[in-house]
Formats: sequence, structure tokens, C-alpha cells
Amino acid sequence: MVQIISIANQKGGVGKTTTAVNLSASLAKLGKRVLLVDCDSQANATTGLGIEKPDLELSLYQGMIGEADARDIILSTMLPKLKLIPSNVDLIGFEIEMVSDPRREAKLKQFLVPVQEEFDFIIIDCPPALSLLTLNAFTASHSVLIPLQSEFFALEGLGQLLDTVKRVKSSFNPGLKIKGILLTMFDRRTNLAQNVMEDARQYFKDLVFKTKIPRNVKLGEAPSYGLPALLYDKASQGSKGYMAFARELLRKS
Ligand SMILES: Nc1ncnc2c1ncn2[C@@H]1O[C@H](COP(=O)(O)OP(=O)(O)O)[C@@H](O)[C@H]1O
Ligand SMILES: [Mg+2]
Repeated sequence: MVQIISIANQKGGVGKTTTAVNLSASLAKLGKRVLLVDCDSQANATTGLGIEKPDLELSLYQGMIGEADARDIILSTMLPKLKLIPSNVDLIGFEIEMVSDPRREAKLKQFLVPVQEEFDFIIIDCPPALSLLTLNAFTASHSVLIPLQSEFFALEGLGQLLDTVKRVKSSFNPGLKIKGILLTMFDRRTNLAQNVMEDARQYFKDLVFKTKIPRNVKLGEAPSYGLPALLYDKASQGSKGYMAFARELLRKS
């Protein structure tokens, strides 16, 4: 059965897209059939996989408003088992156009149903806001994975995120779970990173993944070549970190 996971944190720059792209690529490398859904109008996951946004005739937007089928939007990537639903700026229009639609939170879920059983994992890269797009992602998902940047104020705002999860659980998706907390840009030499880890463990207990993603320049460089880290520099600590994380996730699933 497919597992649908939203990668979410309303803060920008915490490693959501890096995690969505590299977790998806790592799971695909481990033989899983993966669909990455770019649910952010900034479309960094799309560019990060080497797709030129302006050239796109069909993207997630057309799918979510019911103008195109998922099958016609899905793109192949350099990894045979990894497929992509790309995004672009069109997605900005979604929030406004859906205001008066009574089923506006369930558009992504409806859109994915016809193709979801062709995959082992569907990974949704969420925008940096608790917006209608994020509500759609949570409504469509089995669980939410939260990247935490190992920085000051890492846990700030998490209350709002957890409240949103609760709200979606009670209104639209009773089975929704927190998959876990992933520490990103982790520098084990600093006290700060250790403090963030301890705070996260105190609050979230076993929900904090053992694997921590190190701060690694290759993870920052890879998207500009349109490649996941494991194709850009397989031996880098960043690539290894996400492979280890994918294995941990598979053990837990
Ligand atoms: N582990 C890491 N090491 C180094 N740079 C990283 C790491 N994770 C993310 N980055 C960089 O930090 C920036 C923000 O990451 P991104 O994944 O785009 O965050 P978000 O999607 O939450 O806004 C990007 O430039 C990205 O390349
Ligand atoms: Mg992002």
C-alpha cells in the first residue's frame, strides 16, 4: 500500500525541499516506486530535478483545479523509479480560485487517487505557510514529516504547525499522523545543534529520527545542476545522510 508523506514546516529555509528531493531520490535508489509532488509555487523541487518551469504546459495547478489528470502531468526523472508532479507560479492562483469551493481542502487527495497505487511512496513538498495548499497536502497524506533546522528558534512556531495537523485530523483526515522530526543542517560540533536536538527529544521523544542531516555544501550545490545529491556527489556526507535517513524511514514503516 502507498504511503503518502507531507514534508512541512511553515518556516522557509529549514530544508523541506532538500529533504523532499533527496529522500525521494534515496527511496527510489533503494528500489521503491516514488512520486514527488511539488506543492510550492516557488517550484524549487521541480527545478532541483532539472525541469525548466516556464516550459511546463501542465503542472500541479491544472491537476488540482481538475483540468488535467495526474497521468498526463507526471514526468520522468534521471532515476527510473522516481517520478515528479512539477509545479510553477500558476499554483499561486489556486488559493484564490478555490475560496468558495466547499471541497477545497480535498483537491490534492482527489487528484492523486487514480495513480497512487502505482507508487510505494508519495512525497509532498509543502510551501512555507499553513495555507490552503498545506491543508490539501495534509488532507491527502497519511503522515507529516517535519524538518527542523538545527538553529536558534528551531522549535518556535511548531505549536501552530501541530495545531494545523490537529485541525486537519478532526475535520478532514482522522488517520493523519506525525511521521517524525528530522534535524537538518546539523553541525555536531556546535552546542547550538546539540541544544536543538535535546529540546526536540524532550518535546517529541521517539518521534525524532536518529539520523541527522549534516550541513553539507554539496546539498546546496546539487539543485543548481538539477540533480539530487546522490547523482551529483554520491560520496558526499549530504548524500549519505539522506540515504541513511531513507533506510531509517523504511525500517520504521
Ligand atoms: N543539510 C544542508 N546543508 C547545506 N545546505 C542546505 C542543507 N539543507 C538545505 N540547504 C540549503 O538551504 C537552503 C534552504 O533549504 P530548502 O530545502 O530550500 O528549505 P525550504 O524548502 O524549507 O525553504 C537551500 O539553499 C538549500 O540548498
Ligand atoms: Mg522549499
